[in-house]
Amino acid sequence: MYTAQTLRQGLKTRRFGAKIYTFDTIDSTNNCARALAACWAEEGTVIIAERQTAGRGRMGRTWTANPLENLTFSVILRPTVPAEDLNLLPLYVGVAVVDAVRRVTGLDVQCKWPNDLLLNGRKVAGILLEGSLKESSVDFVVIGIGLNVNQREFPPELAGKATSLARETGTEFDREELFREIMRSLETHYRSLARRGFSGVIPLWNERSNFVGQHVSLSQNGSVLTGVVAGLNDHGALLLEQNGTQQAFLAGDVSILGGDTLPHDPQTLALHASGS
Ligand code: BTN
Repeated sequence: MYTAQTLRQGLKTRRFGAKIYTFDTIDSTNNCARALAACWAEEGTVIIAERQTAGRGRMGRTWTANPLENLTFSVILRPTVPAEDLNLLPLYVGVAVVDAVRRVTGLDVQCKWPNDLLLNGRKVAGILLEGSLKESSVDFVVIGIGLNVNQREFPPELAGKATSLARETGTEFDREELFREIMRSLETHYRSLARRGFSGVIPLWNERSNFVGQHVSLSQNGSVLTGVVAGLNDHGALLLEQNGTQQAFLAGDVSILGGDTLPHDPQTLALHASGS
């Protein structure tokens, strides 16, 4: 079991993790982070828990993770971005977490739109972003991150879909080291994107994803579409190509069907991604 003190040891970030609240059991770290952000909590404040009794995923789903084996935490941000750029923030978080996990483990973790991280085609982490607006700009954003680290067994409904770093490698990883590297990576990318503009995350995300060119099905509001991923537009929406026409989607659930039809070279990805 970690403490705020051990998590901060050697952290060397300025804001991310400057305040860490640790809980053994909590309903959801996102709930707690939202409540703190609505009052006074500073940017970079972290809420981390071993057990969540009401851990949330996207689209009203629950997030379950065995205590003492995984990482479940939330970070408060106060970015100066217009509300229409909110969809870029999960991409930034995905890029930062991929870099951190790759650095610590050497594993080829990949980004999957909109908010997942995959390892060997299975979900190894999920990101839940919840924002609060003041007029038309962002007041605060809570980023909730669930990373499956050392859990080997998953409930039957997740078998075949979910995995962990340990399940894929047979090796256990140090959760505190992963946490610290995620904080460093979140801070580095945040600083540079806040300076350059968050749309700068699109090429970074493309470099960390083999998603473009994949044949996928996208479900949204009860309807299912299939097509080929042509990239992301400047607002982080998914561009799906069907019969030579591209449509942009800001939300949805994507399953990869296989059968690539677009090229994968990074130059081409950047071009595709800059379309709208
Ligand atoms: C998803 O894949 O649907 C997103 C999952 C996000 C889970 C994390 S765990 C920490 C934080 N607290 C929550 O209740 N959810 C997020």
